[in-house]
Amino acid sequence: MYPKTIAALKTMCEWAAAQDHESSSSYAKIVDRVDWSGPVKEEEPQTMPMADQYFGTCIGLCGDNPLGDLARAAYSERDQLRWFGMYASYNDDKRAAAFNEKYAILRLTGPEGCWFSDDLTTAITIQGPHAWYPPHAHKQSEVYGVMGGEAQWKRGAEPWLDRPSGDLVYHSSGIRHEIQTADEPLISFACWIDSVDLPSIYVWD
Ligand SMILES: [Fe+2]
Repeated sequence: MYPKTIAALKTMCEWAAAQDHESSSSYAKIVDRVDWSGPVKEEEPQTMPMADQYFGTCIGLCGDNPLGDLARAAYSERDQLRWFGMYASYNDDKRAAAFNEKYAILRLTGPEGCWFSDDLTTAITIQGPHAWYPPHAHKQSEVYGVMGGEAQWKRGAEPWLDRPSGDLVYHSSGIRHEIQTADEPLISFACWIDSVDLPSIYVWD
């Protein structure tokens, strides 16, 4: 039931909510909407190839900041975690089939999770090396926190940007975004806020 991970999640969100950043109010919503009192149901641990292969490597890439602390807490409870594959809404898109194999998601809290959060989901994601997360968009606004690894991020019409450990990234509702890794895997915190039952879709043009 990974209590140390959830405690580290709360600490990280309080830290991010106190930053002067466009995503700070989103982190405050996480603090407000997660039921921190305890798990509401059981969850069977489950692993995925990307987690087996890269979780340990990713820990070595994390910074000395609350995002890194969250990754390290999750790693210390790795036998209790339930990893998932890529979103089901992507599964019919053969153009991204190779990428879907290079991604793993660990849901921390959600409306359906063992730790409850109200209409938002929090997660840790691992993206393997030399993997392109193609441009996609979704109704939910989204915040990312870079835990560790070498990657470039693109948001809307902005240029590609390096995002080091500790960086916060905000995606407003509907904006197109993509992520490219290089020689290192990427581990990041991700949160969807509002309408979490709606799918994410690839946007190729
Ligand atoms: Fe997204």
